[in-house]
Amino acid sequence: MISFNIPPYVGTEQTYIAEAVASHKICGDGQFTKKCNAWMEEKFHAKKVLLTTSGSTALDMAALMCGIHPGDEVILPSYTFSSTANSFVLAGARLVFVDIRPDTMNIDETKIEAAITDKTRVIVVVHYAGVACEMDTIMDIAQRHNLMVVEDAAQGVMSTYKGKYLGTIGDFGCYSFHETKNYSMGEGGAIVVNNPDYIEKAEILREKGTNRAKFFRGQVDKYTWVDFGDSYLPSELNAAYLWAQLEKADEINENRLATWNTYYQALKPLADAGKIELPTVPDGCVHNAHMFYIKCKDLEERTAFIQYMKEHDILCVFHYVPLHSATAGLKFGRFDGVDEYTTKESDRLVRLPMYYGFKQDDLQRVINNAVSFYKE
Ligand SMILES: Cc1ncc(COP(=O)(O)O)c(C=O)c1O
Repeated sequence: MISFNIPPYVGTEQTYIAEAVASHKICGDGQFTKKCNAWMEEKFHAKKVLLTTSGSTALDMAALMCGIHPGDEVILPSYTFSSTANSFVLAGARLVFVDIRPDTMNIDETKIEAAITDKTRVIVVVHYAGVACEMDTIMDIAQRHNLMVVEDAAQGVMSTYKGKYLGTIGDFGCYSFHETKNYSMGEGGAIVVNNPDYIEKAEILREKGTNRAKFFRGQVDKYTWVDFGDSYLPSELNAAYLWAQLEKADEINENRLATWNTYYQALKPLADAGKIELPTVPDGCVHNAHMFYIKCKDLEERTAFIQYMKEHDILCVFHYVPLHSATAGLKFGRFDGVDEYTTKESDRLVRLPMYYGFKQDDLQRVINNAVSFYKE
């Protein structure tokens, strides 16, 4: 069976985990966490990056720092993972879902302004498949309406928009290092704090509401409980696994891109013949090959495609069921405007196997079977 995903593994993970164990420092913020934070700050030109226990908790931190009051509204796409929405529900917001663009599956920046009310506080963008949202337009809207911007860049680590790394454009960026992501630590994530006013707040929030980070830097002579907080520090064991991957970040990226490009070229004739649609990467966006998807004609054809591939020992999977029609989505939010594309496009989308080190033979088998499905 060709798996849909195999977690990334470069070979040095065990050595680094053993080092963490030998150092007798396996809780958070040891040498590997520091190395990962510093690497991301330098590579992404980010003011502050802090590892967290997941992409979901990075989003929780961002939502909590947005200073939401009961009744405040947050604009987000409905085509996303539940975590994007959960964090803002947790912070007390009402969710306002906006339609997506069919070409990138990202929030339609032209429909955001109509959804803004006097209660709107935040725009949350999701860079689907590691392809950037139209950030210039979104940042301009946010500035004109005095709104904060949170980037859910769970899938967008290493991607750029007009030369800027995803996650570093809004007030906060959130990365995921779950085993399904390009770089992994099992469960884990990071928050990127771009707005310097929030750096200290983020450190306190992540460290159970204490100013321990300041104490460790020698800026205060004792640490104490200074504000509301929680525990968002991952263990050093997880950070050690991630460090191995970050050292090989370019190699992993190039390897995934090669697979993505092979899929794209091989399936282009099917797209040219009008049988499927391929992903779009707009000008100015450099993506990280997080995902390779195709769009079938409709839900029925997609179901048949997934079944056909399964019969040929290949696991292909669909993705999000739009949040606005889910039980919790109905409870916590509303869809603004018309659902022109969210439901229709999500019904047609199917993801093909994609991971670091995907073997050429397996890749060719997936391609051959996809082509034969459309021949039959
Ligand atoms: C768009 C998006 N947001 C948030 C998350 C949550 O990340 P994590 O699984 O690390 O909590 C994921 C991934 O699972 C995701 O794809």
